[in-house]
Amino acid sequence: EKGNYRHFMEKEIHDQPDACQHTLSAYIDPTTGHVHAPNGLDFTKFDRVQIVACGTASYAGAIARYFFERLAGLPCDVEVASEFRYRQPAVTPNTLAVAVSQSGETADTLAALRWCKSQGLTTAAVVNVHESTMAREADVVLPTHAGPEIGVASTKAFTSQVAALTALAVAAAAARMRIDKAEEAHYTRLLLEAPRLIAEATQMEDEIRALAPELARARDVLYLGRGAMFPLALEGALKLKEISYIHAEGYAAGELKHGPIALIDESTPVIVIAPSDSLFEKTISNMSEVAARGGKVILITDAEGARNAPKDAKVIVGPSCDPILAPLVYAPPIQLMAYYVAVQKGADVDQPRNLAKSVTVE
Ligand code: F6R
Repeated sequence: EKGNYRHFMEKEIHDQPDACQHTLSAYIDPTTGHVHAPNGLDFTKFDRVQIVACGTASYAGAIARYFFERLAGLPCDVEVASEFRYRQPAVTPNTLAVAVSQSGETADTLAALRWCKSQGLTTAAVVNVHESTMAREADVVLPTHAGPEIGVASTKAFTSQVAALTALAVAAAAARMRIDKAEEAHYTRLLLEAPRLIAEATQMEDEIRALAPELARARDVLYLGRGAMFPLALEGALKLKEISYIHAEGYAAGELKHGPIALIDESTPVIVIAPSDSLFEKTISNMSEVAARGGKVILITDAEGARNAPKDAKVIVGPSCDPILAPLVYAPPIQLMAYYVAVQKGADVDQPRNLAKSVTVE
């Protein structure tokens, strides 16, 4: 049921605090501050993580990579399943293969999972549908608890995947003794703040809606980010393409001058996702390069970032948070942006043309 919302997508964007909360509950014990991987997954057995997924789920994986490597010191590769499954990758024996899939049925992801299993790897499936084929076939099920997702464009399933994978990275860091108990409890406390901060982020709705008429007129839109905000930029571009049919691309902000800057003119909005962190200054200098070429910059940042924003940028201010939460907290604004642009264009938000909710053929 849509309740008071116009579309399932809108409802599901607002469901994210609950979806995230329910998902984190499967990984975190709030009384002890302990984070664990469910169903007996033991991170001390692995020296590498290989994530396989498609579309939005692959961006959740790409975000998790930053945390597996930085917190847990676990080398982590992420690849779209349609490429991974056919290229005869050279996997090493102690690799944990993780398939990430809302439906648990996506043909390419399932094939990649089966291939990993055939190579003797331990396989895990981060799935929202707990009775799915991937849930049955993987050695370990790592659930997300987003509840049924009806809108074809994934929103709450994505943030639930990010929440589960971030919790797993902390669990891996603890199991591998990269962090001590006090640090584990510190991350737990941070993670448990995510639902509240996500709810706060969805309150940016009115400011974002106000940008929709202008964005809806664009032919191309660029999304830029650094670090874990880079995969979020890719996700922002995918959301916009899917439901508003506007051409959009996500780039690592540092790649701008290696080509895409040639696209910048007065009619190309550039959306920069940059909460203040250690990379903020660098992203701001990329923004200034865009502004100097007449590009229209929309900066999505926090209060501190807003104070340091270039004068000519439109600034949307979100909650301040620890960098480990930024992918979760800055997902709703980019989802809402795509949503309101699509509504502005009169597009069928929940059933975009040419797309199916579950892609069970390759
Ligand atoms: C985008 C979207 C798709 C899916 C992809 C994988 O909004 O929904 O990109 O993320 O088809 O689907 P699952 O997660 O079911 O494997």
